[in-house]
Amino acid sequence: MTFVLFGATGDLAKRKIFPALYNLYLDQKLPQPISIIGLGRGTLTHNDFQEKVKESILTFSRRLEHDAGEMGDFLEAFRYNTLDVNNTEDYQKLLQLVKQREAELQIKENRMFYLSVAPKFFDIIALNIRDSGLGATNGWKRLMIEKPFGRDLQTARQLNKKLSSAFEEEEIFRIDHYLGKPMVQNLEALEFANPVLQSIWNREHIANVQITASETVGVETRAGYYDQAGAIRDMVQNHMLQMLMMTAMNLPKKINASEIRNEKRKVMEALRPVTKEDVQTQIVRGQYLSGEINGQKVPGYKDEPGVDPSSNTDTFVAARIWIDNPFWSGVPFYIRTGKRMKEKSTRIVIEFKNSLDLHYINDNQKVEPNLLIIEISPGENVSLQLNSKNPMNNGKIEPVRINFSCEDSSRNGLGVPEAYERLIYDFLIGNSTFFAHWKEVELSWEWVQPILDAFEENLLPLHEYSSGTYGPDAANTLLLENGFKWWLDE
Ligand code: BG6
Repeated sequence: MTFVLFGATGDLAKRKIFPALYNLYLDQKLPQPISIIGLGRGTLTHNDFQEKVKESILTFSRRLEHDAGEMGDFLEAFRYNTLDVNNTEDYQKLLQLVKQREAELQIKENRMFYLSVAPKFFDIIALNIRDSGLGATNGWKRLMIEKPFGRDLQTARQLNKKLSSAFEEEEIFRIDHYLGKPMVQNLEALEFANPVLQSIWNREHIANVQITASETVGVETRAGYYDQAGAIRDMVQNHMLQMLMMTAMNLPKKINASEIRNEKRKVMEALRPVTKEDVQTQIVRGQYLSGEINGQKVPGYKDEPGVDPSSNTDTFVAARIWIDNPFWSGVPFYIRTGKRMKEKSTRIVIEFKNSLDLHYINDNQKVEPNLLIIEISPGENVSLQLNSKNPMNNGKIEPVRINFSCEDSSRNGLGVPEAYERLIYDFLIGNSTFFAHWKEVELSWEWVQPILDAFEENLLPLHEYSSGTYGPDAANTLLLENGFKWWLDE
């Protein structure tokens, strides 16, 4: 097969894609022989390009095979072609190179195109793949694209229309790297392979669900993009809603890509729409001020290089979401995400209903609810908070946590395969389970659109929060209004 990488001299290729391909190669998961063709605007010889790939692996690969011979064999698969995405002749040259390599290696015309480029080029590249003949293969073809997929409902639909004129939906693999995280992938096993959990995974037993993705980093060097996007487009429309779908979906008829995506779509269809008027009561937006994180002083968002000093961009969003179906009606799902928060943590906390309160109240004891805590990153961990008598404290009932660490999966110190490794592998074998289907993307934009409009029209306050905190107080109020609190904030 042929793997064509647009944006091969870019940062993502260097940090993630080449190391991922190399690790797959070491695991013998990269089909052999394979032709890998990198594309970029600059001029490079095949050799220069192979050197760049090697350098990236030496710097970023999670492991290295010290046998230089093996690395040589791997690099031998790489070729480079200069390409200006708007120049149709360049696509013809690319087609010649692809065919030449197919003949040399005697491989089938199975072609995968990975667009690791700025989103504004997605449509033009897809159309050129179609028009140049690159997409007219005797074998299969696939397209993989990075986010963002549009910047609102309308642009997402326009983009999809163009992509679908060149590729079938089954051929399009939309990356959401959160779906590549081992613990997000593990959610389906937790829910569906454990009868104990499955039987309580519903409104009868669950009081609320809290999904957090907090970061300590600020806008870094990406102000140009981020100041136009905000947390709502950068994290909520994609990663947060994907985690929500994975948590709330029902047991699929079969555990396969189409059934799982079907169930995820049903979750999105059941989300109660937020009207522009509701936004004020259901959504909290914030922006970070200066502060201190891990002992280091950091500037406020408006003082970051490249940010408009009068910017209204949200660097924090929290939301209360209702899923109006028989499984979840009445159970609030809270999501929150922000930059420059107190800690880097992606986690899902499921709070169970607490019907035992009265029983122990006579004893003057308050019993904490049971919690299922799923840590997605940086650690991968599942823990269950139960109540237990503490013999060291007069037999008082206190919460204890039972931990199931998944760190064992870093067997023999080699580390867990990274999200990109898993996703590229799935792309290679054509498994789309952990990629976003167009319907999921469209429904996510549909749900988010009134929020975008309300932000745009300034219909709700932009709360400031100091760097190094858990975000604005209003995000706590959102839970307090229903008698809850964010768990694990310390
Ligand atoms: C990206 C966002 O999609 O996800 C970034 O564009 C964010 O702004 C990143 O920092 C977070 O990913 P992770 O894997 O570090 O949680």
